[in-house]
Amino acid sequence: MNPSSWISKIRSCLNLFEQDIEIENLEKKWLYVATIMVGFFVIVMGIGALVLNVNPPSHWETIDSASLHLSSEFAEDKLGVQPMALPDGTIQVQLVAARYGFYPREIVVPADQKIQFRMATLDVLHGAHIPMTNMSTMIVPGHVSEVTTVFPKPGEYPLLCNEYCGMGHDHMWSKVTVLSQDEWAALKTGGKQP
Ligand code: CUA
Repeated sequence: MNPSSWISKIRSCLNLFEQDIEIENLEKKWLYVATIMVGFFVIVMGIGALVLNVNPPSHWETIDSASLHLSSEFAEDKLGVQPMALPDGTIQVQLVAARYGFYPREIVVPADQKIQFRMATLDVLHGAHIPMTNMSTMIVPGHVSEVTTVFPKPGEYPLLCNEYCGMGHDHMWSKVTVLSQDEWAALKTGGKQP
């Protein structure tokens, strides 16, 4: 094939693109609708990210899962509800997830107060889920998971594992007892936590 026939071929291809493209009216309308929808979602996402600060989890804290028993935070005698609240009144709870339970197995916390859970796993990936609250997170080996929640009303809540972690996954749960503020105050002044 000689060069001039190549050039004519390319020309005819270009002509194809130069032809007026007919767009049906109905098609045009839907193009507008789709463009407006995409624009709307981009704006909503922008407001969410920049104004409301809704972002993917960014809490990135690592820990050596194999030596949790030696760590200053997750050693056995440091687990559970911490005796001292944080400066803003938030109650901190340290938990270790391990096949097949969350340790300590039972905790007692107050309702209507911020509870910050800090969790690490001793072995494999686990999930931590408390129904009726915003608490649902993965606990990834080598990382500390942190979730802050408020229990709206007193009662007993299960803390469930929601990531398959082995044969005993179905039985992996612990008990969270939520007291009213009055009961909590009485416990703090007169009693001892179970
Ligand atoms: Cu732990 Cu499933």
